Amino acid sequence: MSGTLLEASNLHISFGGVTAADGIDLEVFNGERLAIIGPNGAGKTTFLNICTGYLTPSAGSVRFGRRDITAMAPRAITRMGIARAFQTPQLFHDQRVIDNLLLAAAARERTWNPFRPLQDLPERDEMLELLELFGLAEVSTQMINELPEGNRKLVDIAVALALRPQLLLMDEPTSGVSTLEKFRIMDLLVEALAVQGVTSVFVEHDMEVVKRYADRVAVWSAGHIQSVGPPDQVLADPSVMRDVIGI
Ligand SMILES: Nc1ncnc2c1ncn2[C@@H]1O[C@H](COP(=O)(O)OP(=O)(O)OP(=O)(O)O)[C@@H](O)[C@H]1O
Ligand SMILES: [Mg+2]
Repeated sequence: MSGTLLEASNLHISFGGVTAADGIDLEVFNGERLAIIGPNGAGKTTFLNICTGYLTPSAGSVRFGRRDITAMAPRAITRMGIARAFQTPQLFHDQRVIDNLLLAAAARERTWNPFRPLQDLPERDEMLELLELFGLAEVSTQMINELPEGNRKLVDIAVALALRPQLLLMDEPTSGVSTLEKFRIMDLLVEALAVQGVTSVFVEHDMEVVKRYADRVAVWSAGHIQSVGPPDQVLADPSVMRDVIGI
């Protein structure tokens, strides 16, 4: 696979006096893992919100494959093949792990029906396989609220992959867990992305994670992109270390 999967051009958006996107240009290439880094308030989440239809830019466009998806509704964008995982997992906490995945599969296939038990869906084996990929098959019948935070994050990512996206956007997939747990989450995530052939973009504050798992890194700064490139090159730049990481 090669070529451009998503292309953002000259995105602008402001909230009151705050300019959260001030001319964002970024290409995401087929098959890559692109990390987004930058200080708090730089506009990283805003970019994901624009790409998924939660915000409409005042200027600029987003293309996905051959289509212009700027200002399309979130649901339409999901159907086109962009899935999203949030910083706080968006799960049904009083439902079982497998049922959260089955609900996503039913949404994908448009087969959800309140009178049909989720267990009867034909996607059940596929969803169990997906859980297997994340090492979660043994907890498939547990309630989400019984899981530790690291596993909840993995289930959230598995739910996003249950939609069979081409592109997965993640906002801080490893926040709020220990360093060891971060690596466990990322190892499983990278494997699942490779098996499913999914391109990914992830916002990340931990530079060890960026160095280890990103093919490229884009540095956000006050609504614009300060630099883009391979992690070893970008993170070696003293201005990035100073402005983003504060050292
Ligand atoms: N819907 C909104 N309404 C008003 N202001 C917003 C909205 N979304 C973002 N902002 C503002 O835009 C700026 C960029 O916010 P954004 O959440 O994109 O930053 P971020 O880089 O994701 O920060 P963090 O690392 O803290 O998550 C911030 O000043 C934020 O307060
Ligand atoms: Mg954010």
